Amino acid sequence: MKLNVVILAAGQGKRMNSRRPKVLHALAGKSLLAHVIATARSLSPEKIIVVYGHGGEIVRNAVPAPDIEFALQAEQKGTGHALQQALPYLSQAESTLVLYGDVPLIRAETLRELISGKGLRILTAMLDNPVGYGRIVRRNKQVRAIVEEKDASAAQKKIHEVNTGIMALPTARLARWLGKLKPQNVQNEYYLTDIVPLALADRVEVSGIAAKDTWETLGVNSKTQLAQLERYVQQQASARLLEQGVTLADPARVDVRGELACGRDVSIDIDCIFEGNVSLADDVSIGAHCVLHNVFVQTGTRIEPYSHLVDVSIGANCRIGPYARIRPGTKLADDVHIGNFVEVKASDIGAGSKANHLAYIGDSSVGRNVNIGAGTITCNYDGANKHRTIIEDDVHIGSDVQLVAPVTVAKGASIGAGTTVSKDVPPGVLVINVKTQDHRANWQRPTKKPQ
Ligand code: UD1
Ligand code: CA
Repeated sequence: MKLNVVILAAGQGKRMNSRRPKVLHALAGKSLLAHVIATARSLSPEKIIVVYGHGGEIVRNAVPAPDIEFALQAEQKGTGHALQQALPYLSQAESTLVLYGDVPLIRAETLRELISGKGLRILTAMLDNPVGYGRIVRRNKQVRAIVEEKDASAAQKKIHEVNTGIMALPTARLARWLGKLKPQNVQNEYYLTDIVPLALADRVEVSGIAAKDTWETLGVNSKTQLAQLERYVQQQASARLLEQGVTLADPARVDVRGELACGRDVSIDIDCIFEGNVSLADDVSIGAHCVLHNVFVQTGTRIEPYSHLVDVSIGANCRIGPYARIRPGTKLADDVHIGNFVEVKASDIGAGSKANHLAYIGDSSVGRNVNIGAGTITCNYDGANKHRTIIEDDVHIGSDVQLVAPVTVAKGASIGAGTTVSKDVPPGVLVINVKTQDHRANWQRPTKKPQ
């Protein structure tokens, strides 16, 4: 069946108290709107139309997707008015599904059920506290109307079944009914919900279908609600990881803001954050307080506490951290050790190589079995351009060495402590700085002068 999806996202979200448009606030690492778009896409619709208004171009630009069309609702005159703006963009698809850009957890499964029906299908929810929502008024079980809180009688306010706002209906009927809406209510808005009596008048069946899971119908109107949804999503993510056999020191203290794929016997200590796409192979362990963003880790590697890794690929049986910082474009082979206060950027490091303490390795190619001493710095930046440092296999670099790029240290060379290397080093040699060490006998340290 051919389907249009309209995502309403023009509201300002006053209660967010933010300059950013509401639908661009992040839930589990991606905007509310991106969540809804992803779910909409999974239904393979013919068209996805986002109705935007508040935040204007910011919203448009935040969604760089050729398959999405945007309808501007310059003034927010209600949900019916929002849909009227989308009308010119609708295709002749049989049915239209209305989603809200601020209801991010709606599941494709629920929507599939909704779009497979006939007539006007409204997704409803049973809420303990229905205040603020449109109430579903039924007579003989049949949906007769949706009444907004502000327009509801005392008796109607006692109804617990509410309109989630999500609905599916025949596109041709929608077009006809939208033309008939009148802003005759307390808020002087064009209510989309007023299509219910129009449908009944046209003898179109109206059904209210209760969502099985209330969470998926919850909207975000405030930072409090956003935080509640975030905790819910994180709790679900942790539950899935535990189910798969991942050891979580505390399921309440791990955040997945993207996709985390884990092999067997992976363990994750407290307060770790996984962003983007992270993949941890069998027997990987992640220490407390690590942040991993787009990281690929092979079997048996240990990442010790307080390490920060972004856009990195790590081989098997490596030891990283504690306190390591590994930046984009870095590739570590197997058995590499990167220790405390070592920063690595845009570098390839070969198998078995180690930089265990206090070093900066940037724009470098490091071979196999290289040892990089404490305090070693690749001086990759001349103030204008970045240059590469090449360190071949089996090189030994002592402590406090500066490698002034572009420079190559050939296979098997050794660099003495405190050396500034600014010329290429041939294979096998020892480089030392010719500095003499003076000893002054009976040396008196300066004493503090009286003020
Ligand atoms: C609407 C429903 C109400 C339902 C509630 C669920 C109507 C008349 N009321 O309430 O029955 O219980 O949602 O949350 O439909 N929007 C626009 N343009 C507008 C107005 C709204 O794009 O002019 C968008 C908002 O960005 C939001 C959604 O529509 O995504 C709902 O708007 P909101 O103001 O939160 O809901 P209500 O109209 O109060
Ligand atoms: Ca709302």
